[in-house]
Amino acid sequence: MSTVEKAAEKLKSLQPEPQAPLHNDDAVPLHHAASTVERLHERPGTADHVAETAPWHVDSHALKRADLLPADDEAMARLADEVRRIKRPLLDNVSGKGARALPHPERIVVTSAVPGEGKTFTAVNLALSLAREPDFEVLLVDSDIPKADVTRVLGLDKHPGLMDVLADEQRRPAEVVVRTDVPNLLVVPAGKRHLLTAELFGGRRMEYVLDALGGPSRRRLLVFDSSPLLATPEAPILVSHMGQVVVVVGAGHTREYELKAALENVDGSQYVGLVLNMSQLPAIENHYYSRYSHDSPYPFPDR
Ligand SMILES: Nc1ncnc2c1ncn2[C@@H]1O[C@H](COP(=O)(O)OP(=O)(O)OP(=O)(O)O)[C@@H](O)[C@H]1O
Ligand SMILES: [Mg+2]
Repeated sequence: MSTVEKAAEKLKSLQPEPQAPLHNDDAVPLHHAASTVERLHERPGTADHVAETAPWHVDSHALKRADLLPADDEAMARLADEVRRIKRPLLDNVSGKGARALPHPERIVVTSAVPGEGKTFTAVNLALSLAREPDFEVLLVDSDIPKADVTRVLGLDKHPGLMDVLADEQRRPAEVVVRTDVPNLLVVPAGKRHLLTAELFGGRRMEYVLDALGGPSRRRLLVFDSSPLLATPEAPILVSHMGQVVVVVGAGHTREYELKAALENVDGSQYVGLVLNMSQLPAIENHYYSRYSHDSPYPFPDR
């Protein structure tokens, strides 16, 4: 059995029995710190009221230069198909068609065990693909604070971001949301680095900010580009706030014990999708194989 298959088996044992699907009017209870929320609610506007400035230009050439988009149309078309397979179960969970109800299915984090497995590549392409869905808009949140690759490649280094709104209670979440010229795509940059990133991710304000970024409707999907689970203290904390966790596994890169250790950070209430990235599988399955707790006919390489 391969690394990914073993991990999927382990995940299966972590998952609770399926429950009835979440209906649209099933309210998910919100666990705020009353003081923070009440104080902030007094101020007008939430992240749903994004400032009406000119949309930020998303430079596809810059994304290609940074290797976050394929260089040619053929590779782009192939990738689009691969990402469709990843997003379908995520969307099913959001719309209540998944096997069971999830807390905050609209919060989707892309993470991995160790660095360089393709998180940012996957998060960016997943966000772009989700933004093409007619029923949703997408907020791509750069939550890899040490690297901030999304922020840098999009040229948003000077813009306030996630860390700023977490560290400063006077700042409204709407201030850090950047509307882009890609239809239905919004971005939250990483913001200014902070020594207490893990503490801020674990603080009460984080939950308030996440709710505000999500907005009142179920139309908005949040896609988080995370740092690696085994490399930073804040990544597991970020994951604990999420309903859906996409774990990117670099083919021939991630070691079995690393993946196992990384998966210790997800709990049974979350949906976990494993994505085998950059594999040498035949063209139809190249780069990605998205799976969730079921056996695969594909021969994943063991380490
Ligand atoms: N499916 C893919 N197809 C082609 N190139 C890819 C793919 N996935 C990742 N890459 C390339 O691999 C490199 C590492 O990817 P990426 O930056 O997304 O990894 P990461 O996990 O975000 O790394 P870090 O932990 O440093 O943030 C990049 O050059 C990226 O373009
Ligand atoms: Mg990255």
